[in-house]
Amino acid sequence: MTAPREATKRARELREQIEHHNYRYYVLDDPEVADAQFDALMQELQQLEARHPELADADSPTQRVGGQASREFRAVVHAVPMLSLENAFAEQDILDFDRRARERLDVERIVYSAEPKIDGLAITLRYERGRLVQAATRGDGTRGEDVTPNVRAIRSVPVQLRGKRWPAVLEARGEVFMTRKSFEGLNKRGLERGEKTFANPRNAAAGSLRQHDPSITAQRSLDLFFYGMGAIEGWTVPPRHSAVLAALRDFGLRTCPEIAVVDGVVGCLEYYARIGGKRNALAYEIDGVVYKVDRLDWQRDLGFVARAPRWAVAHKFPAQEQTTTVREVKFYVGRTGALTPVAHVEPVFVGGVTVSNVTLHNMDEVARKDVRVGDTVVVRRAGDVIPELVRVVPEKRVPGAREVRLPRQCPVCGSHVDRTEGEAVARCSGQLVCPAQRLGALFHFASRRAMDIDGLGERLIAQLIESGRVATPADLYTLTIEELAGLDRMGPKSAANLVAALEQSKQTTLSRFLYALGIRDVGEATALALAEHFGDLDTLVDASLEAIQQVRDVGPVVAGHVREFFDEERNRKVVAQLRAAGVAWPRIKRAATAGPGSMAGKVVVITGTLASMSREEAREAARAAGATVTDSVSKKTSLLVVGAEAGSKLKKAQDLGVMVVDEPSFLQMLGRGGPGA
Ligand code: IVH
Repeated sequence: MTAPREATKRARELREQIEHHNYRYYVLDDPEVADAQFDALMQELQQLEARHPELADADSPTQRVGGQASREFRAVVHAVPMLSLENAFAEQDILDFDRRARERLDVERIVYSAEPKIDGLAITLRYERGRLVQAATRGDGTRGEDVTPNVRAIRSVPVQLRGKRWPAVLEARGEVFMTRKSFEGLNKRGLERGEKTFANPRNAAAGSLRQHDPSITAQRSLDLFFYGMGAIEGWTVPPRHSAVLAALRDFGLRTCPEIAVVDGVVGCLEYYARIGGKRNALAYEIDGVVYKVDRLDWQRDLGFVARAPRWAVAHKFPAQEQTTTVREVKFYVGRTGALTPVAHVEPVFVGGVTVSNVTLHNMDEVARKDVRVGDTVVVRRAGDVIPELVRVVPEKRVPGAREVRLPRQCPVCGSHVDRTEGEAVARCSGQLVCPAQRLGALFHFASRRAMDIDGLGERLIAQLIESGRVATPADLYTLTIEELAGLDRMGPKSAANLVAALEQSKQTTLSRFLYALGIRDVGEATALALAEHFGDLDTLVDASLEAIQQVRDVGPVVAGHVREFFDEERNRKVVAQLRAAGVAWPRIKRAATAGPGSMAGKVVVITGTLASMSREEAREAARAAGATVTDSVSKKTSLLVVGAEAGSKLKKAQDLGVMVVDEPSFLQMLGRGGPGA
């Protein structure tokens, strides 16, 4: 049965429109229609093809995710070999590359096309009379694998080139990659379903491209940027590489928006610095930049050596991931007594620095990653982010790799280690007996937002603790210029300055003082609320658990910590000594207690980083105002409070139509409009 003329005509119109919108959406990043309108066109075409099956051929946009599953990939011999690039890391290598090229060409200056080096897989697409006929991987450069059905499933790849003036044959070359976001989503789903996960976006892209079922490739949202050409027939090739890229773009083939034409080697190095600076903000991973001589006649003159062109070079960034081995795992004790496992690794140069320690955060993380002493591990350092242990390489596990055990005793003071059921963090029970906690506590006490004691650094505190001279914050106020001047790295001048700073710090505010004490979960916001509520310290010290819970930001957990702190004889003694030493604050007028239950009955979720309080404090504040606080957004959620860098919860709340408020509005709801003092 042949389709009636009208159906054929309409199908053609629809295909053209869909291809056009795909081009706007994927190549230009500038869609003209909303997704729903696009879907309607797709649906109409699908229905039309269902009624007239003879209209549906492999090139129809409706067929992209279908296609036949093939068991094996056919070999493809590349008409023009797919070469690789010379790699360079040092600036000097780039200066040498440019000098050699200029000497060979006998020119003063070269204009380059500077491009990100996308960390994916090289691919070549063959278009004949504008139609995609074949897509092949690079393979060994001479022979690759036919992955045509899978490449058809990549939405940004046109099966039909745009316009009319395309070459009879065009081999367009580029890089298939997966965005970080798709990669994270893929791994997350993999983890949830207990399937395999991928180490990085590159591997995920490779795995997805070599799927035997193209519909899986389609779900995995691959992307493609074109950066060059192979065999060409029936086309006057423009004189410059940059013009070739512009032509590819006009044909509907996507190129990387970061590509630029730069002047001379100085332009190259500027480009390297600029792209390096935004590397981690790009949606996809890159491992360097590529400089290509822009004039094609000069490219021809320069030719090739072995398997790489003399007219291009890859200027690589320092690797962000490296493998190394775990020598030992040690536990470090912080101010609150939390034990943090840290892996000491064989030093490796990664992300531009030598890394020898990587935090493992807590025992849950150790278990999740199954890190053992002796393991080969991948460490990562991206930008200025602290180095992390990405994963263990299980194939390289040596016999006798030792499991990491949480010590029963604090490695610093020997007190027993507590780990509450269900909590990730284990703590030393030694409190102020423990030098590590003491150091942390004193450092916090002296910090700028607490007592603000200028010149009392960590090293000095450590010396004072070691010599036994200082154990509690109160001891600090008994230090004299003479004894300080006798310490390492201390002259009479800095000793006098420190004593003056100690003296000055005595005039403080009650909220700073409460914050300085380092009571668990009492951050600046809670300290301020306590100070305003009770007005003076004695009332707080004597207040019952219930009375403390009346404070506007305080729920049962934090109230418990406050009560425990002041119930401890040692702590009360230190507080008394501090006051005796002259630490004092002006009395503040008591604020009216916040109206009870300003959030009564509300189900609240807090996400992102808040500026004025920790997440736990915010949760407590919401609870104290009568709300039920939960961790995940659902239809039952009445309010989502968002701080900086809110992630998927925000999107979910918006999708579900849940009310979303920012931090200032949240504070206002708590009856605390305006910033705290
Ligand atoms: S040009 C003859 N440009 O890097 C020149 N390659 O190490 C051939 N790559 O196999 C390549 N981004 O997979 C070129 N903008 C770019 C690139 C790029 C990534 C990859 C490509 C190639 C490998 C060479």
